[in-house]
Amino acid sequence: MKNSKQGTSYTTLPKYYDRFVQARGQNYDDFVNWIITLSNIYNLNLKRILSLGSGNCTAEILLAKKDFFVSCVDNSTSMIQESVKKFLKNHILNYEIIKSSITDYKLNTKVEMAFSHYFCINYLLTIKELEDCFTLTYLNLKNHGIFLFDVIQDLPNPIKEKVLFYNNETFKSVLEMTYLKDNIGCTNFYNFFKLKNGLYDLVEEIHYQRGYTIEEITNLLIKAGFKRSKITISKYLNYTPINDSDRRIVFIAQK
Ligand SMILES: C[S@@+](CC[C@H](N)C(=O)[O-])C[C@H]1O[C@@H](n2cnc3c(N)ncnc32)[C@H](O)[C@@H]1O
Repeated sequence: MKNSKQGTSYTTLPKYYDRFVQARGQNYDDFVNWIITLSNIYNLNLKRILSLGSGNCTAEILLAKKDFFVSCVDNSTSMIQESVKKFLKNHILNYEIIKSSITDYKLNTKVEMAFSHYFCINYLLTIKELEDCFTLTYLNLKNHGIFLFDVIQDLPNPIKEKVLFYNNETFKSVLEMTYLKDNIGCTNFYNFFKLKNGLYDLVEEIHYQRGYTIEEITNLLIKAGFKRSKITISKYLNYTPINDSDRRIVFIAQK
């Protein structure tokens, strides 16, 4: 067990991560097609892409297959191990993996697009970490390049608990979510993955994530160098304005 605020996230789950996200309905083809559409809308002449919190790199492999060079940053050893296996299996060479926090990574070549996908930004628990990530990403973008990321708009306050279940033939999951102070949520994941012999493997992890308001994020993007007039907030996979009821929203900031 790591220190309490790091939890145990992405230590044992990576082995089953694809099954985990599939059960939650995440479609990486749709995401990749959407960001390529966005790159055309923004006239990016896209060649290099930076992914922050790249995980096991499903989206990044789809992008590399389309001939973009992808730089993948993640700090989970197990997630990186899974991604390396996938890159090798797909015979892909146009990528690099940088094991680092997304708050202090080093990149050799600037990119036309940086993205952070599937609530990675919510794993940053302090304003300082968010500021460091945004500032560094601004510096690593070419002029007119875009930085996009999805976030949970806000975690509910005050403190409360709820339990959610996912259940299908090969995967069962119980989530105990506790909302702590400062808009930080602690989720205890109890995941059961069916093995070939019919038994289940239990994977338990504790994840801490933080909700940020639109205003907090916008102000930090501006502090990092982005202009307010070049920050767009959009629905996920749909370049249209958000509603109050949208939990998953996307920031698109152009340098
Ligand atoms: C929900 S997963 C998303 C993975 C991938 N982007 C996807 O779309 O499936 C979150 C990822 O963020 C990574 N992560 C969380 N905090 C991080 C940090 N401070 N620095 C680098 N990676 C981080 C985790 O290791 C994990 O791989």
